Amino acid sequence: MSHRLTLRRPDDWHLHLRDGAVLAAVLPESARHFARAIVMPNLVPPVVTGAQASAYRQRIRAALPMGMDFTPLMTLYLTETTDPKDVKAAAKVGTITAVKLYPAGATTNSASGVRDFDRVRGVLETMAEIGLPLCVHGEVTDADIDIFDREAVFIDRVLDPIRRRTPGLRVVMEHITTRDGVDYVTSGGADIAGTITMHHLILNRNHILVGGIRPHYYCLPVAKREEHRLALRAAATSGDPSFFLGTDSAPHVDALKESACGCAGCFTATNTLSILAHVFEEEGALDRLEAFTSLNGPAFYRLPPNADSITLTKGDPVAYPAKIATADGPITVFDPGFPLLWRVAE
Ligand code: DOR
Ligand code: ZN
Repeated sequence: MSHRLTLRRPDDWHLHLRDGAVLAAVLPESARHFARAIVMPNLVPPVVTGAQASAYRQRIRAALPMGMDFTPLMTLYLTETTDPKDVKAAAKVGTITAVKLYPAGATTNSASGVRDFDRVRGVLETMAEIGLPLCVHGEVTDADIDIFDREAVFIDRVLDPIRRRTPGLRVVMEHITTRDGVDYVTSGGADIAGTITMHHLILNRNHILVGGIRPHYYCLPVAKREEHRLALRAAATSGDPSFFLGTDSAPHVDALKESACGCAGCFTATNTLSILAHVFEEEGALDRLEAFTSLNGPAFYRLPPNADSITLTKGDPVAYPAKIATADGPITVFDPGFPLLWRVAE
């Protein structure tokens, strides 16, 4: 068994960096290991225009510590009033890499999301024409749909109809959490891919609820039954180029997580790669880790893989901080519940 693994430098195809004090604190946690990330636009207020994406990118670059290298790939938050011309212009000059669809009310800061999908038809057609990917938060928000069914229902009621009437639209179904999501991506052809988080390879819904409620394991889409976790593990470790890593690392200060109405999101940037090496080794798929973290994502986004590499070594348990300090308060780092033996060599 090899105790050393060299990978092209990974990218994170779904990341929340926030702004201000939290941005400053969490950005180094991603930049230490990842070269690039698709940066989510769900700030308050959201990033809805090319000009706002450009300004946010500047704030991210300004927050990057000296000597660290990191490329933020920006996204626009799709609303019912998004202007197709603005999207096209921002894509053309390289300000944005994708557009993000949040159904209204689906998750953190999604109030400006889409209610009537007919109203975004023009934007989606423009995106299909220029090949700009649509990143999708795939959950319906209807009050009568059980939260554990929201992804499967979204595929049938929203995603599949959108794709049928917008031929050529390139879609990333983000943070898939179900066998239904895996099956839809697997059978969906070249224009659809799926990102998978590290934490959905670790957690099922029992981990959140059995023996006391664990707010730091609560995220959206919420972790599902064990059979779904196993389907995600099989997809991530399969080598199928349709699947790649999007951590959905989503920092919230502890006061907002450990609350009567706690925010959704797991902060995973710090230890994602150590945990993924553990998972892929358990699945006998260490030779497929690089495809998942470093090759399949760039291929779908039509970008070159990173030129440099990282090395993981296996040894004594890795020490990582339980919390990251920020000027707004501490943020708890994801605890996988087992010791981590794989470390990213400095
Ligand atoms: O758990 C989540 N947290 N899921 C999301 O979709 C949003 C994210 C956040 O912004 O905190
Ligand atoms: Zn997210």
